[in-house]
Amino acid sequence: MIKAVRGTRDLLPPETALWNFVEAAVRDVFRAYNFHEIRTPIFESTELFARGVGEETDVVAKEMYTWEDRGRAQSDKGQSLTLRPENTASVVRAYIEHKLWDRGLNKLYYIGPQFRRERPQKGRYRQFYQIGAEIIGPASAGSESPARDAEVLELLATLLDRLGIRDWTLQLNSVGCANDRAAYNEALRKALEPVVGGMCEDCKRRAVTNPLRVFDCKVPEDQPIIDKLPRISQFLDEGCRRHFEQVQEILKAVGVPFVLNDRLVRGLDYYTRTAFEFTHGALGAQNAILGGGRYDGLSESLGGPSAPGIGFAIGEDRLVLTLQESAEAVQRKPDVYIAPLGAGMDREAARLARELRRHDLVVELGDENFRLKKSFETADKLGARFALIVGENEVESGSFALKNLEAGEQVSVPRAELAGKIQAR
Ligand code: HAM
Repeated sequence: MIKAVRGTRDLLPPETALWNFVEAAVRDVFRAYNFHEIRTPIFESTELFARGVGEETDVVAKEMYTWEDRGRAQSDKGQSLTLRPENTASVVRAYIEHKLWDRGLNKLYYIGPQFRRERPQKGRYRQFYQIGAEIIGPASAGSESPARDAEVLELLATLLDRLGIRDWTLQLNSVGCANDRAAYNEALRKALEPVVGGMCEDCKRRAVTNPLRVFDCKVPEDQPIIDKLPRISQFLDEGCRRHFEQVQEILKAVGVPFVLNDRLVRGLDYYTRTAFEFTHGALGAQNAILGGGRYDGLSESLGGPSAPGIGFAIGEDRLVLTLQESAEAVQRKPDVYIAPLGAGMDREAARLARELRRHDLVVELGDENFRLKKSFETADKLGARFALIVGENEVESGSFALKNLEAGEQVSVPRAELAGKIQAR
């Protein structure tokens, strides 16, 4: 038997109804904050992620699905391509490619699959889905303002509340900017020097190439060492400190609770200043429901103009996991099950179904070969609210037997009144 590849999965009803419910709700929220949708390709040149996300990050160093293009055109051949592991680098590439700075402040959102070669477990897949958003533009359009950071965080709190997700914690940090990063990296190198010999191989390498990435280490034995390392909060320069304070002031003013966590540095290299994650109690080990932050230098590192930005990505799989119990509730059940009774009645049932569906009713159709008992049983199983019997007598008289399956009562209803009767609750 051929099965879905490990770490990928089929999304089936009724769960898909939950995915649609979530996506409809987030589109509504994005509309209220004036975000517009962007759709970028599923694969990009490998270089985009190497330069954008950073060679030394786990995502780029270990987790990308990369292959060499065997394209037909000579110019494509040998090109290294990668299934996108995240969407921020692609959005910034599109920003540069289409000169989106001409539009001032861009507020863009996306919903779609991402791919990482990770060890699958609950809440962690190799094909997973993100709902993300980015605000990017020239500083003159206000893209650098702490008000944007706070706006994004307040949007997220609103979104989670609207979905009925209560048990979340916003973890907040500032990872500083190029200015203070140099001093911090130096301090980390110094602090690591005497202890790194006892750490894992990855940390030994990171200590030399990119010491900040030591914080990504998951090896339990290394954690006590990491806990004693200097924290970025002690190295923020005046500008970064002020920016971070202002973000916090606005969050307090709008009533979005947060906790400061100066160990939170995020696993991607492009972050500057504000960095955050929302965690959720019910998720277990993979408890980050979303993550994001500011990336004021990303556009330049991809060859674009200065374009400060901030954004986030929600792990949609994890979001849906927290809502799992609601799957049955949001799936729309058939309003009416049409039971054709006897030869030639499939045709009449099809006509009626067409009429009723035009009234935005969810209609399920039986089969003229079914006995009435089987039709009722099927309607019950589907959770239909009404069963409508279509037999020769009904068609001739123009009045149909409509059975309310919840109340158990049956009435005869003229054809023209059927839709209204079914719609009325
Ligand atoms: P990230 O933290 O790598 O950030 O991913 C964001 C979220 O995607 C995570 O918090 C998690 O919920 C979900 N996620 C990541 N990997 C997996 C996986 N293997 N299976 C299931 N869910 C997963 C980013 O991707 C940044 N691009 C976010 C961002 C946007 N920063 C600024 N703008």
